[in-house]
Amino acid sequence: MATDHHPATLRGELVELVRVGPDDVPALLELWASSPDVLSRWPVWKHDDLAWITDAAEADRSGWWITAAGDPQRLGFIQHYEETDPEYRHGGIDIFLVEAGQGRGLGTDAVRTLARYLVHEVGHHRLIIDPAVDNERAIRCYEKVGFRRVGVMREYERGPVGEDGTAVFHDGLLMDLLARELT
Ligand SMILES: CC(C)(COP(=O)(O)OP(=O)(O)OC[C@H]1O[C@@H](n2cnc3c(N)ncnc32)[C@H](O)[C@@H]1OP(=O)(O)O)[C@@H](O)C(=O)NCCC(=O)NCCS
Repeated sequence: MATDHHPATLRGELVELVRVGPDDVPALLELWASSPDVLSRWPVWKHDDLAWITDAAEADRSGWWITAAGDPQRLGFIQHYEETDPEYRHGGIDIFLVEAGQGRGLGTDAVRTLARYLVHEVGHHRLIIDPAVDNERAIRCYEKVGFRRVGVMREYERGPVGEDGTAVFHDGLLMDLLARELT
């Protein structure tokens, strides 16, 4: 378990978020790679990309397994990161659920649960999230929590490598939420 100030678990209505610890990195990569849906939506990950999970000093990020309350099966992952410059301070969220966890309201509840923690406990007044512009399910999920569409970031994110060995940048949608808008 990581030793920073973030709690070991966060409980929502449907989900329990359980801190990802240093020993969990291989299992996290395995879960990520097990889902075609996630692979098509989530940036390429390597072990080194997750070095922050094994570094207990990284207090400006946290990662959590998503489980359905009362069931320890790991269905996904949600993380937060922070802009710590006081002039621009805000938090960001990223999430994925593998197929077995999708369409059950767990994504909405996981984002809401982490957002409530970031607003009420960490003290953020503003959060952001940045789905691909065509990821309507994700956009709907985030809107239900209170995120609003800010605008399109053109060719923002590199997609997966295609059969021809190349990857293209696609548009992202910047969404933000002010503390008073959190549902
Ligand atoms: C996106 C994701 C986090 C959403 O979580 P989820 O638990 O599946 O979503 P929920 O069940 O909480 O809610 C999804 C909402 O989108 C709606 N929805 C589903 N498919 C949709 C579509 N194609 N277009 C518009 N809305 C859609 C659902 O009806 C539901 O809204 P409702 O409750 O008003 O009916 C999850 O599906 C996921 O991780 N997908 C794969 C990876 C991914 O896309 N990650 C996000 C990267 S930004």
